[in-house]
Amino acid sequence: MNLSISLSDQVALVTGGSRGIGRAIAVRLAQAGADVAINYLRQRTAADETVRLIEEQGAKALAIRANVGEYENIGQMIKEIENAFGKLDILISNAASGVLKPALELTERHWHWTMDINAGTLLPLTQHALPLMKDGGTIVAVSSLGSVRAIPNYAAVGASKAALESLIRHLAIELAPKGIKVNAISAGTVDTDALKYFPNRDELLDESKRRTPTGRLTTPDDIANVALYLCSRFSDQIQGQTIVIDGGYSILA
Ligand SMILES: NC(=O)c1ccc[n+]([C@@H]2O[C@H](COP(=O)([O-])OP(=O)(O)OC[C@H]3O[C@@H](n4cnc5c(N)ncnc54)[C@H](OP(=O)(O)O)[C@@H]3O)[C@@H](O)[C@H]2O)c1
Repeated sequence: MNLSISLSDQVALVTGGSRGIGRAIAVRLAQAGADVAINYLRQRTAADETVRLIEEQGAKALAIRANVGEYENIGQMIKEIENAFGKLDILISNAASGVLKPALELTERHWHWTMDINAGTLLPLTQHALPLMKDGGTIVAVSSLGSVRAIPNYAAVGASKAALESLIRHLAIELAPKGIKVNAISAGTVDTDALKYFPNRDELLDESKRRTPTGRLTTPDDIANVALYLCSRFSDQIQGQTIVIDGGYSILA
């Protein structure tokens, strides 16, 4: 039995693949041989750098600007992938945004913004991508511990991630007969640009590191390694699960 992972001849889309965790996943999939489309919204320079990193692995890369919170943008993005690659095997729904405030300070706009981008994306993304996934494939959504834990200022994002994880389970039972594996990865604290928006960033990082049994923070590469595993044949019987990657942080009382 060949124990190495090869994704050659496969095409992947990583939303929010231009920076942080998404970039690490995109590069890891390219290292395994996949051609990778990445999506971004604002920072073209970061997207260009990720394209360079993917191409450095000998894979084809495509950067697509699209707001994953807008249904129309999602349809156009999938069209671009069809035009460039003709198919899709791996869909990584990673892009996220959200308003960090106490629940009672959230406005209707804050709530819908966060829900639309984090929870509302996966369904239209999957519906549009499905016709390109004729040979089966893999869907992975990136979630966070706030889906099941209460974290200060995280009410909207936490609720959106809980909805995302529920959707994963429902999609999993509908798509399993089509040969599509659907799972989520839930990450502990990862030091990316996203943390700049937390009012207590330094405290959060120190506390996470101190409390994590493995004695270190989770890195983008930790997440990318599990994403690669979920895209490989080695995880074929894992369906509808949320896999926590946090060095044991969340099992502590
Ligand atoms: N960092 C953590 O501690 C942590 C922990 C658990 C889970 N996560 C999850 O991991 C995922 C990635 O987080 P990260 O920390 O890597 O974030 P990040 O470094 O802030 O990167 C966010 C990425 O998403 C893109 N993006 C944001 N809004 C978008 C939109 N509306 N449409 C399309 N693309 C959009 C950004 O593109 P532009 O730069 O062009 O805007 C960027 O590529 C998210 O789902 C997050 O919830 C993160």
